[in-house]
Amino acid sequence: MCGIIGVVSLPGKTPYRPGVVVFRGLKRLEYRGYDSAGVAAIYNGRLIVLKGKGKIDELERKIGLSSIEGLTVIGHTRWATHGAPSDINAHPHTDCSGSFAVVHNGIIQNYRELKEMLIERGHRFRSATDTEVIPHLVEELYKSTGDVYEAFRRAISMIDGSYAVILISTYEPGKIFFAKKDSPLIIGLGDGFNLLASDIPALLEYTRRIITVRDGWIGYVSPSNVFIEELGRGAIDWSRYIRVVEWSLEDATKSGYPHFMLKEIHEQPRALRETYYGLIDDPAVGEAVKLLLDADKIYVTAAGTSYHAGYYYSLLLAYMAGRISSPFIASEYEVYEKTSGEGDVLIVISQSGETMDSLKALRAFKERGVRVIAVSNVVDSAIPRESDVTIYTRAGPEIGVAATKTFTTQTLALSWLVVSYAEATGKLTRSEAEEYRKWLGSSGDLAARIIASNETYALKLSEWMAGRGNAYYLSRGIGVPVAMEGALKLKEIAYIHAESYPAGESKHGPIALVEPDYPVLFVIPQHRELEKLLLGNIQEMKARGAVIIGVAPEDTVLKDQLDYWFKIPSSHWILTPITHTPPLQLLAYHTAVRRGYDPDKPRNLAKTVTVE
Ligand code: M6R
Repeated sequence: MCGIIGVVSLPGKTPYRPGVVVFRGLKRLEYRGYDSAGVAAIYNGRLIVLKGKGKIDELERKIGLSSIEGLTVIGHTRWATHGAPSDINAHPHTDCSGSFAVVHNGIIQNYRELKEMLIERGHRFRSATDTEVIPHLVEELYKSTGDVYEAFRRAISMIDGSYAVILISTYEPGKIFFAKKDSPLIIGLGDGFNLLASDIPALLEYTRRIITVRDGWIGYVSPSNVFIEELGRGAIDWSRYIRVVEWSLEDATKSGYPHFMLKEIHEQPRALRETYYGLIDDPAVGEAVKLLLDADKIYVTAAGTSYHAGYYYSLLLAYMAGRISSPFIASEYEVYEKTSGEGDVLIVISQSGETMDSLKALRAFKERGVRVIAVSNVVDSAIPRESDVTIYTRAGPEIGVAATKTFTTQTLALSWLVVSYAEATGKLTRSEAEEYRKWLGSSGDLAARIIASNETYALKLSEWMAGRGNAYYLSRGIGVPVAMEGALKLKEIAYIHAESYPAGESKHGPIALVEPDYPVLFVIPQHRELEKLLLGNIQEMKARGAVIIGVAPEDTVLKDQLDYWFKIPSSHWILTPITHTPPLQLLAYHTAVRRGYDPDKPRNLAKTVTVE
């Protein structure tokens, strides 16, 4: 939700003017929100603000965001929470005197009380946002402290809620002040300049040396210095927290693709190979298996696409290791936490590692003594930091709001975990486990073949699909989470209503909607038993005139039942999420583009949901 960036530099030290650095950073963070944007700078001792409603490029044309002058510049791209998208509600927000400017990601829960108190003291508010209380509060506290950092510190300690917040002031023009709780923030270390941003891609053009700011940290950066303290506990030695990120700039740009989503679909072979090689020697897998072996109960939680990966894990664990686990949607954690206790294990899956629903679930379970295994794509993000063990996927940055390569790599890592666990319990022999691992090792090559051979077909089929208003995505057993993922892709980017459920449920209600030309997509795993079960489900739909689209192996016995057929090279059912998801991603992508939508920026959505 919202992207923030700031740079403070000595003259001539950044490759572009600081205003351009911030503008380019905003473009890289646009996936986090894009209903309005703005920048602020200190120039010749004065605060300048340019902001408005609209996408970043539109605003650049209208008000020239990148033209802002100054060596200390901050910027924000917004996904509205408090206050509708508008010129006034766009960040940065300023105080009454025009001495402080703030950009913020998160929610200030006690903003009403703070606002009332500040209004009583004569402050004039312009926007309907919660954020605007911060500059006014700092202005108020500056009156008694005469010190920007102290005023900022006191203001932060009065705020309840979640925040990654950065502030600049005419009183201290060479510093950017920052504080963080629950919303992501990173410091990028340069030579003669330093940066702050919500996410790594915004910084990659300038530095790979970063510090992930922890909850409760507060401080400031100047061109050649960093100061950080833990609120209430004194200064910390931040040099211990520097790490060098391996992601390349190319990873974070479109590299000639029209959209990030398409690029990320095509990156799956590489992402799968890298994740696979990472898993081979990852000690975290052994640690996670140990926790699972000792576990009384196993819970699995996540949101959205990551939940589908978690659901797949749960089915595979039952199927392969005969072990039952409880998958649940993270925002529903209150129902489940009360059934947990010491001796249990929670698996939390989150590509970003920052999803608030998942983080809340993690914290609630941890408080009851539950051990936590995380599966994440972002090193050092909040969920891994608060977990006992983390297995990382190595998908590289995912910018498109729709998750693609992170889903297939999550299912690869989770399948690997199940195989290792089943081997440790004796449910699989060593050679059976090796056989499965070999299949998992072939996932990159298979994904490459599947994407190459289905792209044109998806493009062609999208012509028909673009005219539909509804679709069902069905399967059975381990195919169900894949069907759910396909349906989510279609609805979130092509805005076509799509529903997914285990195919046996059709006759209990959903089939009532089916009429001639109704699209029903079947995920048909490489599994003869499931194929047999699916035959009846397909026939009942066909009998009502449905158009049957199958994602099915080349040797499927169901081929005569299919009106359209995404052909999957013969492989193993354990790979179903990896082999069967890319055609569904491509279909959703091309359908969205045909319908005139930007798949990278679906309406009402943001890449990382850091609010509850
Ligand atoms: O970063 P996370 O994996 O925790 O994100 C969870 C969901 O918000 C995310 O998967 C969302 O559903 C995607 N937009 C789906 O494409």
